[in-house]
Parts: sequence; C-alpha cells; structure tokens
Amino acid sequence: MKELMQSLREASLKAISETDSPESVEALRVRYLGKKGELTSILRQMGKLSPEERPVMGQLANQLRAEIEEAIELRKTMLGKVMLEKKLEAEAVDVTLPGVEQPAGHKHPMYNVLDQIKEIFIGMGYEIVDGPEVELSEYNFTKLNIEESHPSRDWTDTFYFTEDGRVCLRTQTSPMQVHAMETRPLPIRMIAPGRVYRKDEVDATHSPMFHQIEGMVIDKGITMADLKATLNLVVEQIYGKGTVTRFRPHHFPFTEPSCELDIQCHKCGGKGCPTCKGEGWIEVLGAGMVHPKVLAGCGIDPDVYSGWAFGMGLERLAMGEYKITDLRLIFENDVRFLEQF
Ligand code: DAH
Repeated sequence: MKELMQSLREASLKAISETDSPESVEALRVRYLGKKGELTSILRQMGKLSPEERPVMGQLANQLRAEIEEAIELRKTMLGKVMLEKKLEAEAVDVTLPGVEQPAGHKHPMYNVLDQIKEIFIGMGYEIVDGPEVELSEYNFTKLNIEESHPSRDWTDTFYFTEDGRVCLRTQTSPMQVHAMETRPLPIRMIAPGRVYRKDEVDATHSPMFHQIEGMVIDKGITMADLKATLNLVVEQIYGKGTVTRFRPHHFPFTEPSCELDIQCHKCGGKGCPTCKGEGWIEVLGAGMVHPKVLAGCGIDPDVYSGWAFGMGLERLAMGEYKITDLRLIFENDVRFLEQF
C-alpha cells in the first residue's frame, strides 16, 4: 500500500506540473482526490491492514492528500499569472504607431468672402441681421412698392406656397429693409445676408437658390453722397485701393433714384476681356435712395428721415474673387474643388 501511495504521489505531481490550464488542473483534482478518485480507492483497501498499520497508513494518506492539494493550488496560481501576462501582451497598444488621420475641413470659399464683407461693415458700425426665407408676399413685394403686375411676381418666376400667392420663398433680401424699419429704433445701419430663391434653371450663372447681401442706412440728412462714399470705400476694401467705380442710372421700385454700381475690370483695366465679357466694366450691385413710399409704409416720416440701400449677389462676388467660372462648383461641394481654397 505504501508503494501504491508512492507511485500515486510521483504520477500525480508530474501530471499536475504538466498541465497548461486551470481547467485541466481541476480535472486532476477530481481524478486524484475526488470521491471516486485514485487516493480514495487506495484508502478503501485499509480494511486489509493490521490494526497497528492502519494509523501509520492513514497519516501517510493525509500527508499525500495535503501534498497533492498544495501542488494543485501552486499550479493554478502560476497558470493564472501566465495567462494574465499573455492577455496583457496580446492587448498591448503600441502608442508609437502612426494614428488614423482625420481630414480637417475649412470654411467654404463663399463664406470667406461673406466674412470679409461682414468685417468691413462691422468696422463701420453696421449691425448684421437675419430674417425669414419663407416670406409674406406683402414684405417681399408690396411693401417694397412692387406693383401687382410686376413680372417678378409671376408664378413662373417665384416659388409660392399658397394658392392665393400670400406666402413665398423670398426672391431677394430686400424685405429685410422693411423688417428692419418696422422693428428697429432709428437710426438704422444694417446688412442682412441670406439665401434667396427664384425659378431659374441651373446653368453656369444661374441657380434656383443663391445668396444676397442687403444693406441699408436710415437717418436724418442721408443723401446719395453717403451712398457713393460708403460703397466706394467697400469696393476699395474688397477689390483693392484705386479700383475705379461707375454709378449707372437704373430702376428699382423701392429706391428713387436708383443705380447700379460697376467696377472697372481689374483684369484688363477697362479695355475689354473675357472676364468682363468685352465690356470693360463688371456689375457689382444695385442701390438707391430708399423710396419715400417705402419709408412711409414702415411708419417713418420721409420728410424727416432718408436712407440708402443696396443689394448684391454673394456668389458672383466670390466667383470674381476666386476666379471661379461656373456657379455650380460653389454648390456641388466637391472636395477636390473646395480643397483648392
Ligand atoms: N433686390 C434687388 C435685386 O434682387 C437688388 C437691390 C437693388 C437691392 C437696389 C437694394 C437696392 O436694396 O437699393 O435685384
């Protein structure tokens, strides 16, 4: 029996030392020390021993059980450590590897131009105001002295929301003049940039949605000289000092007198080239002295106050500044195009 225990000791300690997982160590515990295990089956034979031998063998068996148990615990602890190390190694992050690059965007070129214009006007004490794109026709047309029969009111030109034509998408930022006069204390100095909508087919120079910047000054004693001086100053800041301007008579229902402002072509110096379509001049904006009827309609006494206003297209300005030849490029948001600015 002693020999049996000796060989169990050797076999079990060897097997335990060769295990490679906590599960296989547990399986050995059942195999050697379990109720139906090998040590138990040796102890079953105790009955055959003499009364003197029994306590000696019992003690040896207890020692062997303790020894195997200790070996099992030691092996489990060791395997646990090894497994943890392996896991940590597998999960290790190499902080020296190059990262995944996130492309950083930048402002759209047209908004660079808008920001530049805002800066110019803020510098002169103007306020930037924002207003609705869905507008009452009363504000988009009527209060601006645009009569019912005016072609721009036609259903083929304007997007209307209601059968009675009361609500539309604004076709110009000029209704912001009316909103400003109705809601702000005098004097007023403001610009109002924003989207406008017209039923235009898309081509290199037209889009059903585009941007305008409206500007207006209302105060006592404002004259056409203020209009000219201010706009000349703005043009010089956008196009450079010494840019030659021309104020050409025009007609707008909401200003009287009205004009259009042209700049002499900066490319050819007025001789005529593809940039100015052979004209020598490039149209920049429409402007004029706010019509007395418009002032009165907004509750402002035209005998006391006067003002001037302008409206200009933002896309055209950006196209000139960045030498963009096709309006569609501004709206397509093709990264290959936008990356160039
Ligand atoms: N609203 C005009 C347009 O869309 C532009 C314009 C002209 C605005 C003269 C003005 C102005 O404020 O005084 O064509």
